[in-house]
Formats: sequence, structure tokens, C-alpha cells
Amino acid sequence: MHYDFANIFYLYDVKDVYFLKEVIMDALYLIKNRKSVTTFNNKDIPSDIIAEILNCARVTPTRNYAQDWKFVVIKNKPLKKNISELCNIDCISDANILIAFFSKDNKFKIEYTSAAIEAMLIAANYYNVGVCWQATYGEPYSKEISALLKAPNDLYLMGLVALGYYDFTAPSFHKIPSLSEMVIAEKFK
Ligand SMILES: Cc1cc2nc3c(=O)[nH]c(=O)nc-3n(C[C@H](O)[C@H](O)[C@H](O)COP(=O)(O)O)c2cc1C
Repeated sequence: MHYDFANIFYLYDVKDVYFLKEVIMDALYLIKNRKSVTTFNNKDIPSDIIAEILNCARVTPTRNYAQDWKFVVIKNKPLKKNISELCNIDCISDANILIAFFSKDNKFKIEYTSAAIEAMLIAANYYNVGVCWQATYGEPYSKEISALLKAPNDLYLMGLVALGYYDFTAPSFHKIPSLSEMVIAEKFK
């Protein structure tokens, strides 16, 4: 199924874009059109949208419902700047909200975190909120950021998710390999 949004908006003269999205945007469209954004404007993200984005992380699969996570929601500008300097990622200081994703230690913490953050990225795209993911597990600065956020010792900083509205996105020039380059029929030759 393919949706041509521009045509549909024109056809129905729809004013309420969010309503239209609820009706016609399906999960596959969102997954295939998800993108990262690193340049944010100053507009605030409503707290109920942040809550919904976090809710999408909350329900991602873990073995035996481990869900051993804590999400630190950071709005404080000096704190974001401090974190941005520690990890040397500029967009963090410009983000409206920074979410620091912590996990307890368990065998699959990387898999669990990755699934949860991907869900957040898709949810953010659904709300037209720009989002960028930085993986932090094992990075030298992650202990410093954890200390700055007063994280308990049994939690690992697994990722940082920067969120904000945006005016434009830089076009991506990366070519993603085609499915035929990835899919193997039955066995490797
Ligand atoms: C595990 C992981 C780590 C990433 N780390 C960074 C990062 O440190 N800095 C950054 O600007 N983007 C980071 N990104 C975002 C990627 O650069 C971005 O996903 C990539 O350019 C592809 O663009 P797209 O998400 O729009 O498809 C990271 C993405 C992933 C999945």
C-alpha cells in the first residue's frame, strides 16, 4: 500500500493534518519513512506528546517483561549543554527535550534498549517531532553523564535521544543497500 500524502491533502482539502494521519498513516509507512533530525527550532514539545513517545518505548518487548529501564527527561538548558559538551554532540544542546535512557544490567540490555529507542523514533516521527539517537553504552563519557544525572550505580546509560521540532531537514545522500543485497534464499552459497 502506498499513500501519496500531498495528493490526499489536496484532494480532500484537509485542515487537520493530525486527524488525517490518524486515519490513513499506517505503521509500515512510518517505519519506512522514519528519519533523523539534528537541527531543532525553539518550539516546545507538549508534555503529553513526550509521554506518548515514552509510552511506545515502555511497551516494547523484553524477555519476561524485564523492562528494567529509567527514562530521564531533561529540559534544563545548562544541563543539556553540559551533556552535549561531554559527549561532543551539538544537537543535544539545541534539543527541546533530551531523554537519557538507562537500563539495569541484564544479558539483553542492548537488544531491549535498541527496540525501545526505535519505537521512540517512530513515535516521534508520527508526531512530526524531530529526533536523533546517540548510542552511549560503553562510551568513555557515559560514566560522566551518569554521574552528572546522579544515576544509581546499577544503571547504565544506554542512549541519548534528542527531540525537538524543526524547520527543515538536510537531505540524506546515503544510499541504503537494496533488499536483494541483503536477502539470501535458503542458504549462503
Ligand atoms: C546506534 C546509533 C547511534 C547513532 N549515533 C549518532 C551520533 O552519535 N551522532 C549523530 O548525529 N547521529 C547518530 N545517529 C543517527 C544516525 O546518524 C542516523 O540514523 C543516520 O544518519 C541515518 O539517517 P536516518 O536515521 O535519517 O535514516 C545514530 C544512530 C544510531 C542507530
